[in-house]
Amino acid sequence: MKAGTAILEAFYQAAGQFVRVDDLGRRLKLPATAVNAEIAELEKIGYTIESHPHFGYRLLGTPDRLTADDVKAQLKSPLIGSEILVFEETASTNEVIEHLAKSGAREGLVVFAESQTRGRGRRGRAWASPRGKGLWFSVLLRPTLPTSAASRITVAASVAVARAIRQNCGVDARIKWPNDVMVNGKKLAGILTELRAEADEILLAILGIGIDVNCSREDFPGELGDIATSLELETGNAQDRVALAAQVLTTFDECYQAALTNFETVVDEWAKLCTTLGRQIVVTMGQNRIEGYAQALDSDGALLLRRDSGQIERILGGDVVVERT
Ligand code: BTN
Repeated sequence: MKAGTAILEAFYQAAGQFVRVDDLGRRLKLPATAVNAEIAELEKIGYTIESHPHFGYRLLGTPDRLTADDVKAQLKSPLIGSEILVFEETASTNEVIEHLAKSGAREGLVVFAESQTRGRGRRGRAWASPRGKGLWFSVLLRPTLPTSAASRITVAASVAVARAIRQNCGVDARIKWPNDVMVNGKKLAGILTELRAEADEILLAILGIGIDVNCSREDFPGELGDIATSLELETGNAQDRVALAAQVLTTFDECYQAALTNFETVVDEWAKLCTTLGRQIVVTMGQNRIEGYAQALDSDGALLLRRDSGQIERILGGDVVVERT
């Protein structure tokens, strides 16, 4: 574990109390002088740390800045986030992961960017990623799954994002099929899963997640203001992006493992959080539209839509344009 991660982990465990320099030294396997130098590094990037001649150090404040050390210090997941990279700016974190995957990067790698210049949304749309206002990140996955079951990954991710937001920020986050996370009827987060497959097997999946955390009204100009929102707008308070990032990754780790081995449990939670199920809906896929009753998710994560004729359609992607009760 890196020194910065270990120090921040000790501070979070101490929950606002002092941590002695010799304790930190033992954790880091470093002498006191080196501990002091590491503390100075943290102060340089914006951490407020109080020093006491006898009691040691305690953490008083954290910067609104994503760092791999800080996310890792708060992470409780064995796989997801085993390696974390943070870029100040990139075209798209999905592209970065794709590039790193080609050179053999391992499953669980997470790439964050403070801003993206070519953020990608579903169905070829652009995804706005204003600097320092959200969580824009991608996860490299190498699941042993047939391509037909790829939707399980997106379902697991939408459950993880909704659950983490509910727990961390206390808002009533809901899922709109296929994978939008909504609060009070407005979109708060989106998920874009891109696959590389051979024959019928997934070689790798790139899970891209965008969460509008501290975006202001100006970040949603025009009609966007009617359909999109942020956690800060919904709660009235700026949210701790690092804590939320760690919570989403920790929760996704759990949901991903369940999606591979025990998908029914994920579907059960998804169904409880989903606003689309049990409604008469219209799904559009490009020029095509199909209307029916949203009945259930199947074991691959596809939506089962019951037509008026009674016929069941299996839908793997699209946009819900109308949700009626
Ligand atoms: C959607 O259209 O709802 C999906 C949006 C996904 C956006 C995220 S932000 C991080 C990752 N990088 C991208 O370019 N897109 C995804």
